[in-house]
Amino acid sequence: MKFHNVRIVYFSGTGCTRLVAETFRNQLLETGHTTTIVELRHDMTHDESDYDLLVLCFPVYACNAPQIVITYVKGSQVVHHIPVALISVSAGGEMTPNLACRTSIKKELTRKGFAIHYEKMLVMPSNWVIATKPCLAALLLRILPKKIRPVRLEATKTYNQ
Ligand SMILES: Cc1cc2nc3c(=O)[nH]c(=O)nc-3n(C[C@H](O)[C@H](O)[C@H](O)COP(=O)(O)O)c2cc1C
Repeated sequence: MKFHNVRIVYFSGTGCTRLVAETFRNQLLETGHTTTIVELRHDMTHDESDYDLLVLCFPVYACNAPQIVITYVKGSQVVHHIPVALISVSAGGEMTPNLACRTSIKKELTRKGFAIHYEKMLVMPSNWVIATKPCLAALLLRILPKKIRPVRLEATKTYNQ
């Protein structure tokens, strides 16, 4: 058994999270999942089409989810236990100031009836205060598909597998 309809929703300021979301989408399509991908914008309306797994990807901004992501979840309809894979993207990774970056969004998702199924932090180049050195940034982009593979496998694992 596997998830049939995966909906990827993402926000990206400068493209790092977009690359994560698109790589995820491409690997899901290769493994036979039906996948839709939606970029969050301020003027968008909610599309409530059917899906059985939500993959929500966002960059860490000031140790939290960006406001547009929180607003999106607050505005979504109440669902009945739809699993969510939560992927945060940051320059610093899973380190002290970032540790609570998924807490507020998890609270909002739970309030709406979503079930947190999986969560993961992925390190991508920095677009804030201190730039990542170009050689490291290039490496982070090059190894991204390899890093996504186990994340995708875990995120799409169902209880009956
Ligand atoms: C306003 C702002 C705040 C940020 N705050 C953090 C932070 O608290 N911790 C961190 O590790 N990275 C932080 N970053 C860096 C981004 O999370 C990181 O560069 C990410 O790869 C950007 O993804 P994007 O291109 O999809 O926006 C911040 C970036 C911006 C623009």
